[in-house]
Amino acid sequence: MIVLGIETSCDETGVALYDSEKGLLSDCLYSQTEIHAKFGGVIPELASRDHVRKILPLIEEVISKAEITQADIGGIAYTAGPGLVGALLVGASLGRALGMALNVPTLGVHHMEGHLLAPMLEPEPPSFPFIALLVSGGHTQLVKVDEIGCYKVLGESLDDAAGEAFDKVGKMLGLEYPGGPNVAREALKGDPERFFFPRPMTNRPGLDFSFSGLKTHTRTTIKEIENDTGRLNGADVADVARAFEEAVVQTLLLKCKRALKQTGMKRLVIAGGVSANLRLRELLETEMRDTGRKVFYAQLRYCTDNGAMIAYAGCQRLMAGQSDDLTINARPRWSLESLEPLSKVDLQ
Ligand code: KG4
Ligand code: ZN
Repeated sequence: MIVLGIETSCDETGVALYDSEKGLLSDCLYSQTEIHAKFGGVIPELASRDHVRKILPLIEEVISKAEITQADIGGIAYTAGPGLVGALLVGASLGRALGMALNVPTLGVHHMEGHLLAPMLEPEPPSFPFIALLVSGGHTQLVKVDEIGCYKVLGESLDDAAGEAFDKVGKMLGLEYPGGPNVAREALKGDPERFFFPRPMTNRPGLDFSFSGLKTHTRTTIKEIENDTGRLNGADVADVARAFEEAVVQTLLLKCKRALKQTGMKRLVIAGGVSANLRLRELLETEMRDTGRKVFYAQLRYCTDNGAMIAYAGCQRLMAGQSDDLTINARPRWSLESLEPLSKVDLQ
């Protein structure tokens, strides 16, 4: 079955074709970051309007790149949530309409299930069960994954998501939106000895996260430097970025170790935009290797939002017989735990 995947939950228009036999046939991505960068964050209305402009040309492009015709498409998967409702509605209405026009089954996919399954696109995918660390701009969750659709959230952020904290700290440091990749780039030049930032909620039991205190600590440190010297210089930006990144990744590492120990699992999957962070990957690689475990992640382009992960997740569910009625599904809030396990899909 060839499935067209459509992702429009935030500021990336992603479209891809996944073939259950041949794998990923083609994928195209258009990022709106330039539009939002001058505002320092995503402006929902501008995001929706730009998805409308880009989505059809991108669909034509993936079809032509894959050298197939519309008639070869056996199913449509679109991101139904969570995300910005206006942005979701663009992909959802188009996906639903295309499904009707082509007379193929259509399914609204959970964005975080898409992220979680993105490492399945790699040549050596993880087998089930595993622990997943989902770290994006909107979510920070540790999830026990028994099979596709069988998710138990073991812990999550009580306030900001890890990616959101990166973005806010990027802004404080005068870096462009999105802050994550820019903070990571500055951190590479930073002096690891100059500052030590607190690792939030690591000295008490449990698997929840909180990043707002770390954000305040970062702001206070920046203010202190400004009081002393008037303004941050290049080295100050790099040193603060380094201390902040280290505090986040060490906190994520500690909670992952705790979740693995608690569940006895040997495999860890990291997914979502922050899983593109090279310091996080390096730390986890070392830790997992030293303890006889293995960490899995998607290649960089499939860590942040993309259509391939939606096409893949949708294909698994459509193949199992799941599909939606004619409703256009856009769910800004949607719990991962409420999803149906693939093995229990109720065939109507
Ligand atoms: O998964 P994603 O593309 O969108 C959401 O579903 O939210 O994640 C975007 C987030 C942004 O907050 C961005 O700053 C962060 O992922 N991010 C990073 C890196 N690349 C992207 N954070 C830290 N280091 C990176 N290299
Ligand atoms: Zn995402």
